Amino acid sequence: MENKTIICYEEVDSTNTRLKELAMQGAVHQTVVTAKRQTAGKGRRGRTWVSDAKENIYMSILLRPKVDPSKAPMLTLVMAYSAAVALRNLGYSSVGIKWPNDLVMSGKKLCGILTEMSLSGQQIEYVIIGLGLNVNTKVFPEDLQGHATSLFLETDKEAECEIIQNEILKVFEKAYERFIAEENLKFLRDEYHSMLLNRGKEVRVLEPGSEYTAQAIGINEFGELLVQKNDGTVEAVYAGEVSVRGIYGYVN
Ligand code: BTN
Repeated sequence: MENKTIICYEEVDSTNTRLKELAMQGAVHQTVVTAKRQTAGKGRRGRTWVSDAKENIYMSILLRPKVDPSKAPMLTLVMAYSAAVALRNLGYSSVGIKWPNDLVMSGKKLCGILTEMSLSGQQIEYVIIGLGLNVNTKVFPEDLQGHATSLFLETDKEAECEIIQNEILKVFEKAYERFIAEENLKFLRDEYHSMLLNRGKEVRVLEPGSEYTAQAIGINEFGELLVQKNDGTVEAVYAGEVSVRGIYGYVN
């Protein structure tokens, strides 16, 4: 984490939005923004991300990778992998991944990742990866109960956000270097698979305009989910376009 600028706010609307403003003002590659609280935390698909005060990690990192924009979605998987490895390094050994990038404990969502990209012509101007990790939340709003969890609820122990944050950034930095050198995810595939909760499970693939049930096999080198349909054919499902659910619940 040497060479990284980390800007810590007490409160922002959204760390992704704040970092976007900084990016447009010329902030450098690997600038990190964290906040104790977000007033307008953003989730995927236009949802909000509950961002109560001083309990959890709300963090975004600015990247200026020199890769083709089609490769940027893989960075989300690199972050999910890094956060899961970091948590396991810190002793949270039952953390798993729901493809492509949710972290899960006891079948409930622990951490979400929102990646936003800006292009200049055909090139990436910047990518912002935002990560929200429920660390010390004791009670979730009613609509999230049963679906969301925190490290505290899973272990009955409070944890230090900064230690976890630093571990995630440390693991991510190494993984990011490998990704930039190789421009694919072969290097993390085996470990990602070992944490992938959907693996070998029936999933419901919700594509725009079609829905089907298939068995999840794992990811290919581009981070797409390989699924085997009932007729035996294998399809690669692209993270940006489809959503995958368990048959009975969020994961399984
Ligand atoms: C999801 O819906 O799963 C993605 C949630 C991402 C939340 C994080 S919190 C830090 C960063 N800033 C935001 O506004 N969103 C992301």
